[in-house]
Amino acid sequence: MLLPSERLAPSTATDFVTDVAEYLQRTPRQLPSRYFYDALGSALFDAICRLPWYRVTRAETALLARHAREIFEPLPRPLNITELGCGNGEKLAVLLENSHERFRRVHLVDISPAALRSARARLAVLPAIPVTTFQGTYEQGLSRLATHRGHGAWLVLFLGSNIGNFDPPAARDLLRQIRASLAKDDALLLGTDLIKSQRALQLAYDDPLQVTAAFNRNLLRRINDELGGTFDLDSFAHRALWNPHESRVEMHLVSTRAQLVRIAAADLEIEFKKDESIWTESSYKYDPEQVLSEGRLAGFSGGEQWIDEDARFALTLFRA
Ligand code: AVJ
Repeated sequence: MLLPSERLAPSTATDFVTDVAEYLQRTPRQLPSRYFYDALGSALFDAICRLPWYRVTRAETALLARHAREIFEPLPRPLNITELGCGNGEKLAVLLENSHERFRRVHLVDISPAALRSARARLAVLPAIPVTTFQGTYEQGLSRLATHRGHGAWLVLFLGSNIGNFDPPAARDLLRQIRASLAKDDALLLGTDLIKSQRALQLAYDDPLQVTAAFNRNLLRRINDELGGTFDLDSFAHRALWNPHESRVEMHLVSTRAQLVRIAAADLEIEFKKDESIWTESSYKYDPEQVLSEGRLAGFSGGEQWIDEDARFALTLFRA
């Protein structure tokens, strides 16, 4: 069978401890944002998506619902559809509800087993479209797609401004890898958050309910629980800042005092100075024009755009 159900990327657990050890010892200290999404992290992210100050998910879902027909009109039928970083599957469900007769099968890729479980459950209530899943990184999911594509054309969904986590060179590489795993008649629907006021960005990533702070600090809780870490959660503060020169929101966890942290599984001891930070996430923000030029640079053509001017969010449809 092609793209068998419930495939798992090899050695996810060893990646975690290796990456934590490596990234925490970099200058500046970092942690890869893909590790936010354990079961609690995925639930906290779902809560973020409902915050009035975080408009990405609502804006994108509304664009998808409103323009589904237009988006799919030029694409071949029936169409295979894969979503990189599907999360809880809500947006995909909206798309399928609006034009399910067009789809041959659906393939979900996510780093989070919890997210894949909710996405699968959510899609199960829809008309019978075969659903397969792959738990792993985007890159791993893409290389499987290239070698197990089966019959018919594919649409890749890369939504939610997930591309924003990649710095410009890495985003370019990833777009190129997406393009390279596609064939003639395939397409990419890319969701990107757009540059907007500093105030709006600040509130989106440092919300008054402190859900984003909990999401950020949960990464340390996860390291404590899974890797025998000794992070004192109370003495790491959530910071979000808009870096206009790099066009990105940065999230950090700042040590509020000098302290020693051990991570048993990595056999590691780290001395934090007061005010020393761990950089946990970048969310790059785009210009609509820049999205088009990045897509073309990666070898895509087309580039129809649907933009929510109020929330400042763009959907772009590229053709392989
Ligand atoms: C899922 C990576 C797109 O960067 O906006 C939300 C994650 N981090 N609030 C984003 C996130 C803090 C989100 N992405």
